[in-house]
Amino acid sequence: MADTGTKQRKATPQNTGIIERVDKVLAAYTREKANLIPILQQVQSVLGYLPEEALKRIAWYAGTPESNVFGIATFYAQFKLTPQGKKIIRICCGTACHVRGSEKVLDEMEKQLGVKAGETTADMEYTLETVACIGACALAPTMTIDNDTYGKMTPKRVAEVLGDKSNTAS
Ligand code: FES
Repeated sequence: MADTGTKQRKATPQNTGIIERVDKVLAAYTREKANLIPILQQVQSVLGYLPEEALKRIAWYAGTPESNVFGIATFYAQFKLTPQGKKIIRICCGTACHVRGSEKVLDEMEKQLGVKAGETTADMEYTLETVACIGACALAPTMTIDNDTYGKMTPKRVAEVLGDKSNTAS
């Protein structure tokens, strides 16, 4: 069972909720470095991302340097260090999609949403990412919104796919 760790990490109003929720996850794991990846996965599933305070708490619990936990969290693409939007848009920039104009689709998506790849819209509605291949090369260029796949994308179709969102973004 985890102690409160108040000596190691002073709670502030901003991080109290985070630490409490992280501690609930930590209570299910023994204090071993071998548990770091499953802990990170579980904490991300609870919080939606891995805030700095959570990473520090995990490092303290596992008895490993914070740099080690930060290193793991930044190495694996599955871990997100910033809050994610409600919907995740992924534009494929793999070879098949690239040669069929995925860059123009990405440019238009960035323009429509007002963010660059890797960023989240201010209203937390969308996170825009690029991926290497989604396994639907015959439909290149492709993109996904959560679990929905859109093939044969064109810059013109971006607004259509985004629906009303494109009318409100500047
Ligand atoms: S390269 Fe885009 S789906 Fe394969």
